[in-house]
Amino acid sequence: HRHLLGIKGLSPLDIEMLLDRADEAVAISRQPEKKSARLRGRTQINLFYEASTRTQSSFELAGKRMGADVMNMSVASSSTKKGETLLDTAVTLNAMRPDILIIRHAAAGAAALLAQKVGCSVVNAGDGAHEHPTQALLDALTIRRARGRIGGLTVTICGDVLHSRVARSNIVLLNAMGARVRVAAPSTLLPSGIERMGVEVFTRMEDALKGADVVMMLRLQRERMAGSFVPSVREYFRYFGLDGQKLKLAKEDALVMHPGPMNRGVEIASEVADGPQSVIQEQVEMGVAVRMAVMDALLDPRRNGSQAPA
Ligand code: CP
Repeated sequence: HRHLLGIKGLSPLDIEMLLDRADEAVAISRQPEKKSARLRGRTQINLFYEASTRTQSSFELAGKRMGADVMNMSVASSSTKKGETLLDTAVTLNAMRPDILIIRHAAAGAAALLAQKVGCSVVNAGDGAHEHPTQALLDALTIRRARGRIGGLTVTICGDVLHSRVARSNIVLLNAMGARVRVAAPSTLLPSGIERMGVEVFTRMEDALKGADVVMMLRLQRERMAGSFVPSVREYFRYFGLDGQKLKLAKEDALVMHPGPMNRGVEIASEVADGPQSVIQEQVEMGVAVRMAVMDALLDPRRNGSQAPA
């Protein structure tokens, strides 16, 4: 079975092909009758151990738009509460013969572990601070549709890079596609050795914004900060929050992106989040399309047997 566990392992051609397929899914999703029958008869299970608004609902809509039977496992009211482990839960669900399992979990490597234990395709919908591949793909689709390309653009990723699976997946994808990637954060929120991922590192946001084509803001992930440095909101916003003043340093038509959920007044001001350069709502629309494309590619019978990840 074929899986999507991370952007690492995808070739630039794999990525382009998924984005092309997602463009077709956007067209389907903009018709009054938003249905294809490509996954008719297939069973999709969403297994979310961490909170989600965008990812879970878009995976559900994506499956339904392609005719799959979609089941959302309610982890909060499941036997997880009685001590059942992730693997026992997964093996139990696997016995119900799903075709694809979508998993979000707080532990890095959870999706890869599951993929070894179940007899169906697995998609990583976010594993700890490791990877969130469909997020990076939807970000790439948003950029490609707005600018016509990804290669050669300067993308500044700003905020809590240390705890961000979104940043990690985006850095890998954007580098693979030939973009120049900058990261900007207080040094306490940068992973050690981040330079080795092929990014330019800034601890002053203003410097990182100069001439950027795309500004991607990240939320402070307080849920992953137990016992470590938590910045004060007021100070953080002053130095690392994106407002209209700071945005002027980027290119005049720079795209403003945020994977959500946003904390307004912490990493981003409403004037920019809701302003003319913001493509945050486009990102959400592209999320459904990318998830349609990914599941379609993984379950495509014409490509079964291929070792390519997507
Ligand atoms: N961007 C993202 O993963 O959002 P959710 O946590 O709401 O799914």
